[in-house]
Amino acid sequence: MEFMGRDVVSIKDFSGEEIEHILDITKKMHPVAEGEKKSNILEGKVLASLFYEPSTRTRLSFESAMLRLGGSTIGFAEPDNTSFSKGETMADTIKMAESYADVIVLRHPNEGAAKLASQFSSKPVINAGDGAGQHPTQTLLDLYTIKSEKGKIKDINVVLVGDLKYGRTVHSLSYVLALFGANLTFVAPNLMQMPQEIINNLKEMGKTPALNESLYETISDADVLYVTRIQKERFPDDEEYLKVAGLYKVDKALLKNAKENLIVMHPLPRVDEIAFEVDSTQHAVYFKQAKNGVMVRMALLGLLLIPDFDGGVI
Ligand code: CP
Repeated sequence: MEFMGRDVVSIKDFSGEEIEHILDITKKMHPVAEGEKKSNILEGKVLASLFYEPSTRTRLSFESAMLRLGGSTIGFAEPDNTSFSKGETMADTIKMAESYADVIVLRHPNEGAAKLASQFSSKPVINAGDGAGQHPTQTLLDLYTIKSEKGKIKDINVVLVGDLKYGRTVHSLSYVLALFGANLTFVAPNLMQMPQEIINNLKEMGKTPALNESLYETISDADVLYVTRIQKERFPDDEEYLKVAGLYKVDKALLKNAKENLIVMHPLPRVDEIAFEVDSTQHAVYFKQAKNGVMVRMALLGLLLIPDFDGGVI
């Protein structure tokens, strides 16, 4: 398995075996991510984080991952304060970033932006979210969270609810869950249901998902409930958004019907789809899920930047 210097545009860039290897390395990153152990394995390496769209978790966890491994970070989170506001193209910005850094982490509102950026950079480009497209490191941390909380992926029942149309995390997550043998249920109204192309792909993989509009009808069988925010910013107009806003809410009343060991996940940020009262229940793992993002991104940075990286962190 060779990871050195590769771009990470889509989760499909990795085989199942490679994904499992990343998750194994992730486990070894815990002591460093928790600050219990120091590491300088990325000393002298620079990460450029170019965020053309807002982010809290992805940007900060990438930067934390780099710093925890002894590397440095440069970048921007407000493109209007860069030469983008003078009309500089993303391609030119990428060419600059590759000459200043060893790895580029890019979030952009346009689907396909990371793929395009990878064609302008000889340094690895990691897609940190491209519009309604892909967010592969989110998929890795989601998978890592499920595997570490449930002990396995195969044959568990995963219910994905909310904005399955525009929510980029659920597209690639469905693919990897099917790849590793989970059973899938998609809960959404027609307007926000999973794109047919993705459903067809899952069928071809032998994992036909169940479709439902009711969360109450599906909650009792779920081992994992993956909740998503309605992606207001991706709706063509407010009228369409208002038809679906506030349709699903996970609260204690709903969870009375759930298995005792159900885990509730969310890529965050949440708006109102999970009530605050759920945070203190045994079901809530969404903050732990976000924390796992640091370990996953540490593993990935090590693999992309250090030859034959095996998770050793001295
Ligand atoms: N989950 C996620 O991508 O969060 P941010 O938008 O805060 O990075």
